[in-house]
Amino acid sequence: MAFPINRSRRLRKTENLRRMMRETQVSAEDFIAPLFVCPGEGIRKEVPSMPGVFQMSVDEAVKECRVLDRLGVPAVILFGIPESKDALGTGAYDDSGIIQTANQAIKEAVPDLVLINDLCFCEYTDHGHCGVVRNSDVDNDATLDLIRKTAVSQVNSGADMLAPSGMMDGAVKAIREALDATGAYGIPIMAYSAKYSSGFYGPFRDAAGSAPGFGNRKTYQMDPANRREALAEVALDLAEGADIVMVKPALAYLDVIREVRNLTGRPVAAYNVSGEYAMVKAAGKMGWIDENTVMWEILTGIKRAGADLILTYFAHQAAEELQK
Ligand code: PBG
Repeated sequence: MAFPINRSRRLRKTENLRRMMRETQVSAEDFIAPLFVCPGEGIRKEVPSMPGVFQMSVDEAVKECRVLDRLGVPAVILFGIPESKDALGTGAYDDSGIIQTANQAIKEAVPDLVLINDLCFCEYTDHGHCGVVRNSDVDNDATLDLIRKTAVSQVNSGADMLAPSGMMDGAVKAIREALDATGAYGIPIMAYSAKYSSGFYGPFRDAAGSAPGFGNRKTYQMDPANRREALAEVALDLAEGADIVMVKPALAYLDVIREVRNLTGRPVAAYNVSGEYAMVKAAGKMGWIDENTVMWEILTGIKRAGADLILTYFAHQAAEELQK
């Protein structure tokens, strides 16, 4: 008798067999493309540590949104780089601020694109922390007041969905109440529920000019060692009314994505963050890895771990490739 009877390789023999057996598909509708919007006109400035990612003025961001829409990417998430910063991050809730201006222009030009706004203050504060600083730490409840104002301003200018990323306790509930009070009960919240205090955010802080001026974010972002705490954070956000929960970063936290997937029937998002992108680009450029192969392996891995949605700087590139 031939040995062995069970031969897994039988189903790996041809590309069509492999396609038939493939358990995970990544497609353009899984992607949310992060965009950095800055003041000015005709500006498209590449972020040195993130090749292929640009700080764009509103007119350029509109063009990029048109392209993403054509490529089948259903959503963008906007980060604003304001003209000036101050202690209270007033640029975030200024009705003629950078995000609000971008919202109006994008909503008008590409109305069907799902327009998500990141809701945080680190890009708008001169100290670079994610809220109001008191006694060298971020004051949670004082920050909630600013979060409410910002939420209303973002939605009034055209945002379709809000994504609080500051890891303030009670942020989801504060936003839900503020929006519902204005009648905007149909606007979903994608909560950065399990956001870790991570070294992988380095390039983003260059791109957004949002590195903390003193200290770090460890009093609000999570300790990378904690898994159970992530599930507690997710449960809290769901109880406060989150529509989508997020794990961030993605790659060192695939176990957390899987656990969150198993915990809730709600959609789960994962943020394939700036440092994860930069490492692939850098090693690809050096010829140390094949960039394209690794990009697909990463996106597939995040999906396989349980993410329904992937926030990724690869969105444009990957969607373009899917169209080929
Ligand atoms: C703002 C925010 C950050 C990221 C998304 N929203 C930076 C931070 O917390 O320092 C990181 C995204 C990335 O690295 O791609 N709070």
